[in-house]
Amino acid sequence: MAQHTIHVTINGTAHEATVESRLLLVHFLRDVLGLTGTHIGCDTTHCGACTVLLDGEPVKSCTVLAVQADRKQVKTVEGLAENGNLHPIQQGFWEEHGLQCGFCTPGMMMTSYALLQRNPNPSEAEIRQAISGNLCRCTGYVNIVKAVQHAAANLK
Ligand code: FES
Ligand code: FES
Repeated sequence: MAQHTIHVTINGTAHEATVESRLLLVHFLRDVLGLTGTHIGCDTTHCGACTVLLDGEPVKSCTVLAVQADRKQVKTVEGLAENGNLHPIQQGFWEEHGLQCGFCTPGMMMTSYALLQRNPNPSEAEIRQAISGNLCRCTGYVNIVKAVQHAAANLK
């Protein structure tokens, strides 16, 4: 299997690694770098638990090869909090109880982060559309939407 040396900046830290062509970004993050906040929730690219930002765009890291992140910026859930303080999105999920099992939460938060970057004042419909690629199997999304609204208000 061919090997490639890649250079990826993850949450502001530069990494160099030699990886197989077939290695998925999610496995690079979890198994090589130990960033296990990014979850794997399905085998079919539908759950969104693995969502990270690649050069600012939310992607399902189970469908991106690690080599595709070469010379790019990756942001994972571990990159949200700063100086020990929760990011307003994390605070929103905390305050509004935007989770039940919590397995989907990292992906949900990364999608919400990307949404609020491009649209700081989303309507409920826009929030629901933005997170439609992130499945939560145990809630009705009501508190998740409230969590994103809470974050939007606090980011103003
Ligand atoms: S693990 Fe990537 S979409 Fe489910
Ligand atoms: S809280 Fe999202 S799947 Fe349970």
